[in-house]
Amino acid sequence: MIDESRSGVSPDEGAFRQVEARLHRYGQGHVLRWWSELGEEQRRSLLGQIQRIDFDQLLQLYKAYSRRGETASTAADDVRPPSSIIGLPRGRSEQAEWDRAVRRGWELLEAGRVAAVVVAGGQGTRLKFRHPKGLFPIGPVSGCSLFQLFAEQVLARSRRAGRPIPYLIMTSEATHEETVQFFESHDFFGLLRDNVRFFRQGQMPVVDAATGRLLLESKDRIATSPDGHGGLIAALARSGLLDWLAQHGIDLLFYHHVDNPCVKVCDPTFLGFHAMHDAEMSLKVVEKAYPEEKMGVVVERDGKTQIIEYIDLPPEMAGERDDRGRLRLWAGSPGIHVFSRFFLERLARQGHGLPFHAALKTVAYVDERGRRVEPAEPNAVKFERFIFDALPLAERVVVVETDRGQEFHPIKNCKQDDTTPDTPEAAREALSTNWRRWLLAVGAQCEDVVTVEISPLVALEPEDLRGIVQPGATCSEALLLRPDPAECRGFDHRSSEPGGRQGRG
Ligand code: UD1
Repeated sequence: MIDESRSGVSPDEGAFRQVEARLHRYGQGHVLRWWSELGEEQRRSLLGQIQRIDFDQLLQLYKAYSRRGETASTAADDVRPPSSIIGLPRGRSEQAEWDRAVRRGWELLEAGRVAAVVVAGGQGTRLKFRHPKGLFPIGPVSGCSLFQLFAEQVLARSRRAGRPIPYLIMTSEATHEETVQFFESHDFFGLLRDNVRFFRQGQMPVVDAATGRLLLESKDRIATSPDGHGGLIAALARSGLLDWLAQHGIDLLFYHHVDNPCVKVCDPTFLGFHAMHDAEMSLKVVEKAYPEEKMGVVVERDGKTQIIEYIDLPPEMAGERDDRGRLRLWAGSPGIHVFSRFFLERLARQGHGLPFHAALKTVAYVDERGRRVEPAEPNAVKFERFIFDALPLAERVVVVETDRGQEFHPIKNCKQDDTTPDTPEAAREALSTNWRRWLLAVGAQCEDVVTVEISPLVALEPEDLRGIVQPGATCSEALLLRPDPAECRGFDHRSSEPGGRQGRG
């Protein structure tokens, strides 16, 4: 792990000699190959970068990778589907429990005890989008960004709760500046500036897969990559945000990924279940669609709820089916969790020790002749921590099933290919379909071909449209409902009044 606290050392002779000796001890002397060509500032920055590397740790990680490769072995007999899941409500008594959870969730929001965090440090290489993923245009009609969809949900729920919900945004070196600028240039999407908190996750050095040697991104810089969303705990502690949450009386953190536009940010039902069961960590699960789907699966192993990442799940286990033909390990993780602050604090105090996972990736580098190489095949190992490895450390875990169609349509790939159907087009279609159903639910008429977008500031759920959309209202062209009528289009306004009803109603 790169220790951020030891930055900014001046490249005097003594420091240089120490660093040089350390590099040689670990077989990493090549990192200084271009030293004589570097200016004062470049030398200072390279030296600082080297001093922050924990070489012992890196060596251990690489040795483990060389022994085992990318995947951990998983034996079928240790692993079973989770035995205790709060399933979608099927009968009256289950529905009553869900109603109780939603009320409890609103109480927590109204008491100002909840914040949300989005992990937005990933580089989104599969999407081939040259900006942080959160900037990706996803609104099916307006083209609004993922960040706008999330921020407007936070704002809408805050207004209903009558209390601000802080929104914490975890960035990385690669995504930080642009993310902050994006929020600033959009006036924080209406959220109070003070309640939007950006914090950076850590970075890990990237090594050559064949030799374990550090890769140089340029002559004066070692290649690094974000330390995985498991870096969240250390980053929250280091940035002072864990203390900040405590000072503001916030004890629950709703967590989500940046690539799923359908996530219900701060879903009151989910928060309610977490609190009703006094859980330390809660997970949503959705039914996995097909064996090869790139989803972590929620399982029980050694009596503990855990997530096995798709890369660690042997294909024969992924494909096992039960008597009814359903995948045995069916409970896919959409990456939606709730954490109790006390749990995160405990992990931070204990140094959290989440394990690192190794992944083989394609990383450009500068070779021994100083030329930039863009490899065609994976050549490098990146090390990441996964936040869900905290699960076995939690005292109580709650698993809640959710409707996949409504809540999970991530954008992973720019184009559909053999490995995933999760494209931006598919996500836009899913959003539009969900919103079209909301209109139908309140009696509007809307053909299947019509693209629909409803800002969270207008409605967070179908019932919010009552009184805004009159029964019988029609729409036959692309429809956009925003709080400002001037921005709306596509509705037959004689029969509807899209407008800014933002009270809880
Ligand atoms: C991830 C999950 C998988 C889950 C799937 C659901 C992991 C390791 N796997 O897969 O179990 O079923 O999503 O869509 O998470 N991120 C950071 N910093 C990092 C790395 C990632 O903030 O260093 C963020 C990304 O920005 C993204 C999220 O973590 O918001 C997930 O990362 P991604 O690489 O997209 O994971 P997947 O392989 O798609």
